This record gives sequence, C-alpha cells and structure tokens, in this order.
Amino acid sequence: MLLNTFDPYKPAAIDWPALDTASWERLTGLPFWHIAVTTEGDAAACMNAIAEDSEDPLIREAIALNAFEEQRHKNVLENMIRHYGIRIGAEPPYPRPADAEWAYLKTGYGECFDSFFAFGLFRVAKDSGFFPPELVEVFEPIIQEEARHILFFVNWRAYMRVHKPLLPSVIFTAQSVRAVLNRAVDRMKFAREDNNNSNLTVKGHEGLGIDLTPRAFMELCLQENERRMARYDPRLVRPQIVPRFVRTLRPLLGRRS
Ligand SMILES: [Fe+2]
Ligand SMILES: [Fe+2]
Repeated sequence: MLLNTFDPYKPAAIDWPALDTASWERLTGLPFWHIAVTTEGDAAACMNAIAEDSEDPLIREAIALNAFEEQRHKNVLENMIRHYGIRIGAEPPYPRPADAEWAYLKTGYGECFDSFFAFGLFRVAKDSGFFPPELVEVFEPIIQEEARHILFFVNWRAYMRVHKPLLPSVIFTAQSVRAVLNRAVDRMKFAREDNNNSNLTVKGHEGLGIDLTPRAFMELCLQENERRMARYDPRLVRPQIVPRFVRTLRPLLGRRS
C-alpha cells in the first residue's frame, strides 16, 4: 500500500502562492512551525534507523520510503519558512535512536495522535479560509501522506506481533502499550502547556480563530479520519486507538454546536 500510493511531488517545484497581508500574518503567526520541522526531522531519523534494522526487504523498502517522505515534509516546510520569512528557533541534531524499534513505536503512535487532530484542523483551516486555497492545495498531499503513514504503522505493528516468536511478541505488545501511554501523556502535557499560548493539537482550532465547540471539533476529526482512510484497501487494519478514545469521551465533551 505505502509503495503503491507514493506521490512523486518535488518540494523545490512548489509554486508558493502570493499572500495578502492578512493571510501572511496568519500563516507566519502560527506558533508551531519550529516543532513541525523538528518533528519531521526526528521522524525521518527514526524511520531510517528502523528501515536499516528491518530484515524483510519489502518492509525495509517501505519504511525507507516513509523516512524519505518525512524528510520531504521537512524540506517543504523549510522552503515555505524561507519563502514567507517565518522565523523559527535553531535546529537540533537528529541522531539515530539507540533502540530503533522502540523509537518507531513512539513515533508511530505519536503520528496516530497528531494526524487525527491534524485532519480536523486542516479541514477547519480549509473551510474557514484561514489558509488560501492555493496553500491548502500545497499541504493536502502532506496530510494525506500522514494518513498513509499511520495506516502503514498499525499494519506493521500487527504484522510484527504475529511474526515474532512468542516471548519477543509478548514483549513487543507490552512495548506497544507503553509507547501509546507515553505518547498520550506527552500529548496531554503539550495540550496543557499550550493553554498558555496558542496551540496545535486538541485545542488547535482556537488558534485558528474558529468558533467551534470541542465536541464539534472532535466530530470533524472523526469524519475526516474516516474520509482519509476510506480510499485504502479495506483489508488493512485501521488506526483505532485515538478514534475509539475520542468516541468514548464524546458524550463528556458537551454540546455539538
Ligand atoms: Fe511527516
Ligand atoms: Fe509521517
């Protein structure tokens, strides 16, 4: 699936649209460009490592492609930052993780959280005109690539669990649970910290200046998640943890609109 749905776009060929002052201020004022760039850099390093460690040549090729796409996301963001004169902090190094499998579990589940909310945020930004349509078009393939990545990741995880011998499989499952909890706590901390300024994940739509109840936003994330996943082979396992969690919490989130 990952190899067959590769989109060969080139970051250098992107024709960045001219923005009016208000759009430019909105874009450059978003607080998350630094974290977006470093997240892509870390994801690329982690996926290169797990690709190197993968014995199955087809899995290695697919994860190496995933690493290439993360690096390409980073390149797109860097080109955009340069083009529009966005200022971000100094970049850290991206070392190879010591334990590639553990790093990929954390990165994969991290992407499951981030992508789910990014799907909703992107839809809000598109419908509200926060981003002009030309810019939405540039970012659309990146968002869809993240949908492919999390779909690939949960299927990789399911496959590895079945193909490992009993004891390593039990350890792998325990590590997976640990990685989900690690990412959930991390993202909750981030959302809470972010209450102090503008924010990116759960409450990110407020940063876009859109009046949407938390419940309406979660409904939108669920819808977008389904729409983006619907185009792939129905036999593949779907990322379920975050959608299930949100569906369970939905009644506690108050009114729909
Ligand atoms: Fe990415
Ligand atoms: Fe990704």
